[in-house]
Amino acid sequence: AEVVRVGLLGLGTVGGGVIKTIRSQQEKLASRLGKRIEIVKALVRDSEKERAVHVDPALLTTDFEEVLRSDVDIVVEVMGGVEPTYDYVRALIEKGCHVVTANKELLAKKGTELVDLANQHQVHLAYEASVAGGIPILSVLRQFLRTNDIQGVRGILNGTTNFILTKMEAEQLSYQEVLKQAQELGYAEADPRSDVEGFDAMYKLYILAQLVYGESLPLADVVRKGISDLSAGHIRIASELGYRIKLIAQAYQAEQGIRLSVEPTMLQLSHPLAQIHDAFNAVQLSGNIVGDLLFTGRGAGELPTASAVVEDLAYLLTQPFTPHPTWKEKTADKAGVTVDSEE
Ligand code: NAP
Ligand code: HSE
Repeated sequence: AEVVRVGLLGLGTVGGGVIKTIRSQQEKLASRLGKRIEIVKALVRDSEKERAVHVDPALLTTDFEEVLRSDVDIVVEVMGGVEPTYDYVRALIEKGCHVVTANKELLAKKGTELVDLANQHQVHLAYEASVAGGIPILSVLRQFLRTNDIQGVRGILNGTTNFILTKMEAEQLSYQEVLKQAQELGYAEADPRSDVEGFDAMYKLYILAQLVYGESLPLADVVRKGISDLSAGHIRIASELGYRIKLIAQAYQAEQGIRLSVEPTMLQLSHPLAQIHDAFNAVQLSGNIVGDLLFTGRGAGELPTASAVVEDLAYLLTQPFTPHPTWKEKTADKAGVTVDSEE
């Protein structure tokens, strides 16, 4: 089978899961795709650090230029953040390298530029792992929901906060105790304020809106509230009244244009999203032809996320380049009229 040279930017929770998955699925991938994936370089911050997955020390580097020089066909970006990640990804695309990323913050802040750059250099930019962990929701939207008009999207897009809310209700644990567990399980972001203040869910909602509506709002126009003000008392009172509090992200088309929000919301216990527990995520869609759809699955953690990354790899190893639909950002002006943000 043909050997494909892959570089990794980052070898933490997700990067480790990607290595494990490639190793455990290598023979199957070779027979199904006719390609063998070889990891040739992995960029890290600290090459001496003990890691959950063993890799040949010669593969590790702390120097991005080494990745750039190592003639990789594809790079998997799982280091997170925007700086210096954006500059690295740009440099790799400009070299003609395909990119798979799990980085929703990068996409929500720089996706418009990266999509254009990838199209200009005719390389794939794949990012299934950036939204809802292992649920292949972006591929469904891009490939299998092109005839339907999607009337609205609602979901639980952050595993850490759903885990916290579930455990606070079921085990009467404190917010701090459960957050620590979520970090130990590899669910939380490097800075967990991104999870608990709703930024992470907002980035994912921004990406979903790009695929559903062909545009999104500037992040500053998204209504965002996290769960850090919620106490065990709030959760108990909601439960006594027959409700459950969930961090709900939603996008819908209003008269003045699209609206995006991320907020703690009281749901009746019978609501499908009230049944989503632990680090599971869910995405609820309504199409004018298909009707209501609900996708659920593991939204965070090593292997569910690695699954989405490696499926993206498998996809782009077998598919020719096709231009990615351009991302657009619209901003709502004070009179409620939607205008192009560039104008
Ligand atoms: P992580 O465990 O903190 O791993 C980050 C990795 O990147 C580490 O190996 C770190 O090196 C390396 N790194 C970070 N900054 C670097 C820099 N400036 N230069 C060189 N290397 C650098 O993070 P993670 O949980 O795997 O998440 C990675 C990405 O996936 C993030 O964008 C995150 O939002 C996204 N994601 C995560 C999950 C999840 O469940 N964890 C799910 C979906 C998407 P060292 O190891 O040397 O510190
Ligand atoms: N920190 C994120 C979450 C990881 O908890 O959902 C998955 O994107």
